[in-house]
Amino acid sequence: MKSSCLALGASALMMLALSGPARSADAAAPKPDAQRGAELMQQQMSQMSPELVERAKALSPETRQFLMHVVLRHERRSDTLTLVQVMQEILAEYQTVGAAIATDNGPMAADAARRLALHRLPRGGMLPYLPLEKVTDAGLAVLPAMEMAVEGNATRLAEAADKGDMVGAASYYGAVTSGCVACHAHFRGQPGASAYVPRLRK
Ligand code: HEC
Repeated sequence: MKSSCLALGASALMMLALSGPARSADAAAPKPDAQRGAELMQQQMSQMSPELVERAKALSPETRQFLMHVVLRHERRSDTLTLVQVMQEILAEYQTVGAAIATDNGPMAADAARRLALHRLPRGGMLPYLPLEKVTDAGLAVLPAMEMAVEGNATRLAEAADKGDMVGAASYYGAVTSGCVACHAHFRGQPGASAYVPRLRK
């Protein structure tokens, strides 16, 4: 670990999170984002396999900072649900948005789109559910674009639906869908494959 990284504020805290226990702070005082993010990353790391922890530690400060941004942005974090379960919840929100657009129901579309944009995070964060060889700076470099495609467009969809602009909402729905497809093409193996039949997982 290069000592120059330690001068970089938030990424310095991230380094701490990845290399040892977070510093203790006055529990009553509100925690600055960087420190809270570092603690949450630490929590995720405690649920990862040693092999994955090694990979996570090798990520650049920029990649780790993006992961920290994700964990801070999503305030619903589960200690039990897997990524597939979170994805099923996302699918339910996505279908609700589709039904609302088709029935010209702006408030219903806007609420479901915001829940989609601020979806729950699975146990241990996203990394444990990705192919190990994709847990590199290059493999994860697509994540900010995926976030823009799905969460950015879901937020825009909600704003259009708030104004009753269902034509606009429908076009953002297409953009969100492209985000689902692109991320699956990059990270997901055979859709629906069972963990009990490893040869089907590709
Ligand atoms: C950041 C990347 C990413 C984005 C964006 C994403 N998914 Fe997924 N999704 C995954 C991964 C990875 C899996 C496989 C997880 C596993 O097998 O453990 C998955 C699996 C799923 C599954 C489980 C069943 C299956 O087909 O494997 C559903 C349902 C799903 N996604 C729906 C969606 C929908 C709907 C959207 C868009 C609104 C979406 N996803 C956006 C990464 C993503």
